[in-house]
Amino acid sequence: MSLTNPNIPEDVRAVAANGTQLRYKLMELTAQYPDAIALGRGDPDLATPPHIIQATESAIRQQRTGLAPVAGLPELRQAVAQKLRSDNGLPADTENVIITTGGQEALFLIMQVLLDPGDEVLVPDPRYTSYDEAIDSAGGKIVLVPTDHADAFNLRPEAVEAAITPRTKAILLITPSNPTSGIVTEERLREIAAIAVRHNLVVISDEIYEKFVYSPWKHFSIGSLPNMAERTITLNGFSKSYAMTGFRVGYVSAPRNFIEAMAKVKAVTTGPAATISQWAAHAAVTGPQDAIADFHRIYSERRQLMMDGLHKMHLDFSEPRGAFFLWTNSSPTGIHATELSYLLLKEGRVLIFPGTGFGENWGGYLRISILQSTDLLQEALTRMEPIIARYRATA
Ligand SMILES: Cc1ncc(COP(=O)(O)O)c(C=O)c1O
Repeated sequence: MSLTNPNIPEDVRAVAANGTQLRYKLMELTAQYPDAIALGRGDPDLATPPHIIQATESAIRQQRTGLAPVAGLPELRQAVAQKLRSDNGLPADTENVIITTGGQEALFLIMQVLLDPGDEVLVPDPRYTSYDEAIDSAGGKIVLVPTDHADAFNLRPEAVEAAITPRTKAILLITPSNPTSGIVTEERLREIAAIAVRHNLVVISDEIYEKFVYSPWKHFSIGSLPNMAERTITLNGFSKSYAMTGFRVGYVSAPRNFIEAMAKVKAVTTGPAATISQWAAHAAVTGPQDAIADFHRIYSERRQLMMDGLHKMHLDFSEPRGAFFLWTNSSPTGIHATELSYLLLKEGRVLIFPGTGFGENWGGYLRISILQSTDLLQEALTRMEPIIARYRATA
């Protein structure tokens, strides 16, 4: 499917080949429509739990406003290491943890430290394209590993192995996945771990959506497997689990020398993460965890509502096993997803990212997020329906 509609404005067309820029352009256009319903970004719309807000207020009142150490507040690093041991089975200690300014900075620092020019990183496709930029800017090369709808976008170990070359440095895993909401199952992770050991590869495991996995599926951390801790870099953060996107706190767990190297780069870029935010994160990870269960219940309801709505429109999607997205096959409409996104925004006032926001091969998919109230999700479905039906009829 190609991008043909002459009504697509030039500024959208100009960035259509770059997933990240395309997503940002569509968000910019959405700001022009006050009545738009945004099902684009992956940032939780739910309120940050009150005890985290209180901890933030008290950090401010107590003037905890000085600079933290570059790798993070020792109290937070220690609490995160404890969480990684108990929730994820990783053999992590304080020295294995660095606190970053969101997962976004973490993924950039990881690539800066890990890659030499020409090193290849295996990246499952479709993908969170921020990794493209991070790999590019470190002089690395992305090698795409295909995943497919028929397999619920689970990663196939054979496909990983087939993509390995003498320049391969690392395998990137994002489980649950943005954008597909698929997961890499434990069985497959065990096989992928064996491949990593056999070929002496690093595994980067982005587990930022770990808390939102839907029954009967379960999250599993590859770094907990034997012989994997020394070759696994685990990325996570507070944005998704605790609805704390604006606090900008993420973290990485890795072998100590890798963490030290990351801290050196961090020292000359952003310096430590904001101290107040780190105290908020400390309250999140050491305090009551009930909010996560509440969020999980809310997302489960919304997920069901969206699945029912898309079924009614006869759109096929990959049933989300985790995260916040419905990765939906839009090809029955007969138009390119970038164009369809633009039309859904312009005519329906609903922002939905095209699959091309997550890789050039995905012009037949949409990523619909569930980060709005059920009323707004219902309204978005109502607005989408006639548009989808009209294009399908003429396809
Ligand atoms: C897969 C993935 N990794 C990392 C991030 C970065 O999140 P943050 O910088 O808010 O921690 C995101 C954000 O959407 C994401 O989807």
